[in-house]
Amino acid sequence: MALKIMILGANGFIGSALTGAILRERDWEVYGIDLSDNKLGDLPKDNRFHFVEGDITINKEWVEYHVKKCDVVVPLVAIANPAQYVTHPLRVFELDFEANVEVVRHCVKYGKRLIFPSTSELYGMSPDPVLDEETSPLVYGPINKQRWIYAASKQLLDRVIYAYGVRDSLDYTLFRPFNFIGPNLDNIEEPKEGSSRVFTQFLSNVLYRRPIKLVDGGNQKRSFTYIDDAIECLLTILENKDGRATRRIFNIGNPDNCVSIRDLAERTIRIAQEFPALRDAAKGTEIIEVSAGEYYGKYYQDIQVRVPAIEAAKRDLGWRPRTDMDTAIRRTIDFYVQLGSFNSLNASASGL
Ligand code: UGA
Repeated sequence: MALKIMILGANGFIGSALTGAILRERDWEVYGIDLSDNKLGDLPKDNRFHFVEGDITINKEWVEYHVKKCDVVVPLVAIANPAQYVTHPLRVFELDFEANVEVVRHCVKYGKRLIFPSTSELYGMSPDPVLDEETSPLVYGPINKQRWIYAASKQLLDRVIYAYGVRDSLDYTLFRPFNFIGPNLDNIEEPKEGSSRVFTQFLSNVLYRRPIKLVDGGNQKRSFTYIDDAIECLLTILENKDGRATRRIFNIGNPDNCVSIRDLAERTIRIAQEFPALRDAAKGTEIIEVSAGEYYGKYYQDIQVRVPAIEAAKRDLGWRPRTDMDTAIRRTIDFYVQLGSFNSLNASASGL
């Protein structure tokens, strides 16, 4: 019998890529829900994809019914953008924690396997140079730094899920994404700062011919992971051959792509120039420095270096990331060029 997978947030960055990969590469059925379908293209036409437009905080019966009906539940609905943590901390708690803990409880009640997105942010300002799922301390700033409400919400969920595993033998896997990038990350057609994570923000700045802003100098580092590599890992987790991913935590990240934010800005500008549609805009893009206070306000605090240990995923899932930094950037830009985003936007941007 083909697996029935339920994906909450099927139209999100990870949800849409995962749905596409499942339909292309596996014979499983997908039951998805999201607020809209703009990232799904033709996927809803596939008769193995049962998609409804809806809100998990309102369509609660749909959610519970489908948890009962499916074999594996992947709840990907969350706010995952730091600018939102500092401006709407309670919304982050309500959606990321409260709405999701209900889904976790349904999985316990109906005995379903749960694949839950933890986050690289969970490690916070951990002193470990390489972040290990089992041993690294999780370190946050004071309460007045509201940025940490996201990490704290996610940490508590990890702990709740772990406890259900111990007490009720809940079958779960926690995965921790490390700065996944790729097509459809956020909306590049949204020039407003704070609506996107860093890579989409930079692409959008190039496109709208606005300076790229490096927060506090841009020396902070992230390990960027191309979405296709991440999805390959998630498919292995979903498959869960011989229970290898059951009650485990896996970092999903690419330590070879650990670069500074300044380096990301410079690469983005350089690689964008390879594309005729972007050449002029990219050549003219300035890089400037701003303080974190100016950019995010007083509730923000940053993480300086974030490198994943990926031995667990390599050893137990047979996975390794393959896409280097420049290829990840090039493929993402190419996606938007193919989509024609830059043509229409160049026209409107030049009218600004
Ligand atoms: C975020 C989320 O909090 C995580 O949950 C999520 O898992 C993670 O992204 C991810 O993508 O995996 P963070 O890496 O801090 O964490 O978020 P970004 O908004 O992508 O910022 C990365 C760095 O770029 C930060 O140091 C930020 O200050 C800097 N930045 C951002 C700039 O210098 N300029 C900008 O215009 C935007």
